[in-house]
Amino acid sequence: EEWKEKGAAVSTRQEIDQDGRPVPRIVKKGVKDFNFGRTLGEGSYSTVLAATDRQTLREYAIKVLDKRHIIKEKKVKYVNIEKDTLNRLTEHPGIVRLYYTFQDERSLYFVLDLASGGELLKSLKKMGTFDVECTRFYGAQILDAIEYMHNKGVIHRDLKPENVLLDDQMHVKITDFGTAKILEKKSNGSNQGAEDPLDGMESERAQSFVGTAEYVSPELLTDKNACKASDLWAFGCIIYQLLAGRPPFKAANEYQTFQKIVGLEYTFPDGFPPVAKDLIERLLVLDPVKRLPIEHIKTHPFFEGVTWGKGLWKQKAPRLK
Ligand code: ADE
Repeated sequence: EEWKEKGAAVSTRQEIDQDGRPVPRIVKKGVKDFNFGRTLGEGSYSTVLAATDRQTLREYAIKVLDKRHIIKEKKVKYVNIEKDTLNRLTEHPGIVRLYYTFQDERSLYFVLDLASGGELLKSLKKMGTFDVECTRFYGAQILDAIEYMHNKGVIHRDLKPENVLLDDQMHVKITDFGTAKILEKKSNGSNQGAEDPLDGMESERAQSFVGTAEYVSPELLTDKNACKASDLWAFGCIIYQLLAGRPPFKAANEYQTFQKIVGLEYTFPDGFPPVAKDLIERLLVLDPVKRLPIEHIKTHPFFEGVTWGKGLWKQKAPRLK
């Protein structure tokens, strides 16, 4: 019973009883409730399809995962992590929301927000680079979403421009929580509420997971441990990439990329905006404890003029430049 559903999402559907009265009944959504459309993305053991709810005509992205393949490749744990983290992150416009999950004999189905603007990476490749205004806007939305997930006890661990999607308004939706980590609440009363930059450090068994080479934090390579600040290293790499058109640490192969990361070997292109350079230098810091915390990133001069919180998501996205 590997795929037993707990707290499954449900919907009501009208049915008529013997006296001609509608009986309210809770019915789980299933494959039959959707019309499936174009392929939006393909992963190693999943495919994301556009789909429409037949009743409401609302559009979604449905991630279809092959059960046999997941079991064979021992990825059951990651599928559960993705579902559990998404079920925790339901109240933020900057994170892809999970509406329903269901299954049939072959597949698991995750019904998600449709992000019709596609990957931020695709927009960046089209433009080459972003200007400071666009980088500030997308950077602020990404940071606001990271702050929310960290406050909910989730570390993403694989942030990169492929995992930052854009919706129909060109607003950010972070996706792919299959390699996230849920932090357990501390039972120790002495440190309640205090901000610990090493929150999420796993002291015992070494973790085998390593994210995408170019965005991996040095602590993951040296201590095999990720913490909240590891997401902020990736955030620094993303800000650099939006302005420079390429990530800061890039080499011919993964090993050489890792060597550059642990050696903090990167340079800024000529003409790189000084205020952005200052921010990135405070994020790409080898010691995660010394990395700029979110509260200070928000007040850094690079983000001057940004309205944080709900207002950020009501703003019109700047035209890409
Ligand atoms: N590709 C992967 N996930 C997606 C989503 N939720 N919306 C659009 N495209 C996607």
